[in-house]
Amino acid sequence: MIKNILICGGGNGAHAMAALAGHSLGGGGRVGVYTPYGDEAARMKEAMLENQGIEVVEPGRESGPRVMVDLITADAAEAASFPEMVIIVAPAFAHESILEKLAPHLQAGVVVGAIPARSGFEFSTPRILERHGVSGAVIAVGQTLPWACRLEKFGQRVRILGRKESVGVATLPGGGASRVAEALTMITGCTFTPVENVLAVSLGNVGQIIHPGIMYGLFSDWSGKPFSPEEVPLFYQGVTGEICRLLESMSQEIQSICSFLQEAFPGRLNLGPVQPLMQWLVSSYPRDIEDSSSLARAFVTNRAYTGLKAPVKPAADGGYVPDFTSRYLTEDVPTGLVVTRSLAAICGLQTPAIDRVIACTSQWMGREYLVGGLLEGRDMAGTRVPWNYGLHDLGAVVNAVTA
Ligand code: NAI
Repeated sequence: MIKNILICGGGNGAHAMAALAGHSLGGGGRVGVYTPYGDEAARMKEAMLENQGIEVVEPGRESGPRVMVDLITADAAEAASFPEMVIIVAPAFAHESILEKLAPHLQAGVVVGAIPARSGFEFSTPRILERHGVSGAVIAVGQTLPWACRLEKFGQRVRILGRKESVGVATLPGGGASRVAEALTMITGCTFTPVENVLAVSLGNVGQIIHPGIMYGLFSDWSGKPFSPEEVPLFYQGVTGEICRLLESMSQEIQSICSFLQEAFPGRLNLGPVQPLMQWLVSSYPRDIEDSSSLARAFVTNRAYTGLKAPVKPAADGGYVPDFTSRYLTEDVPTGLVVTRSLAAICGLQTPAIDRVIACTSQWMGREYLVGGLLEGRDMAGTRVPWNYGLHDLGAVVNAVTA
């Protein structure tokens, strides 16, 4: 069993993962946190020591155990010295910069994963590890964070808002997923289930549908007039039938990519775990959804989404405007939807709904991905499309993910 674990990141999820891992292992292993971001490591360590641990509060509780993490550091060599498994728990746009610093110090045979991996981690990570001469590493991709969680006090207190039923995890090379799933289940207290192929996690990344899709649905007709605090729309529970039709079209386009790939490579690629959106929602929140008669009702009646508002920021002259720098776009478009769109392009498939969302949201972010229907925009280098890592055709992509 894997017992020496390094968590990379210093945000909501990293606090929860580190504290829960420390609690579960109870001294029977070692848990470290590596965060090279600003002065986070020093602040987190000082705050944890002052509080005598990071308190992790479970849903419905007001307090929880305080857990001392064994190591909190911004020093990559120190961080990489002990782990059997490294798990990045940070927005996907930070994955590469964290790994570039850590990789020169990693030991042979280490497990290197991201939870959630979002899309394209399986293309970028082997290249980084190869470049730094890390041999025999196992790459692990987790479908989603096993809980919704929020930091209440940096370095001191994190609240788990709701747990997911089960989370898929796949490895590259394949065959290592059971061992990784067993360790993650033990440290998180949520069930991780092995998924056969890393591409199923990439394509099955539902954040890429839900986040940019709902942002598009809520704001593509926005008049430009700031919202009063009461007018700021709910995010998940603000969806309409029309928004859900768009989400369903995006989900259907992803299903078409899966069908194409499975037919083109029979027996080689199992993409069965890539669920249509409705199926994912209902199976992820079986106890929270009151009415699953339609996708819109399932979103609106999901207790886990209660009260969560769309990302907004204060407007110069008062009120609030949509925040187009939100992770819902800056993470889920370049390391989500654009990667999926690149796979569609490699398969020769059309994705009109996904294209519509990419075109609009990239303009909001001041970025350029699609030009004349092709992924040739000036900001493609910041995405995790396979050809950024030397994988230019379908055969190369499938060989890379079935290694
Ligand atoms: P967060 O927003 O709390 O993460 C921020 C942290 O990421 C920073 O404190 C820093 O440690 C790190 N970071 C950011 N930019 C960096 C950079 N350029 N270089 C190095 N480190 C950098 O994120 P959170 O909430 O922990 O989420 C982590 C992942 O989990 C994301 O992919 C998110 O979409 C996903 N997720 C989060 C959920 C939640 O409830 N928090 C629920 C489901 C998914």
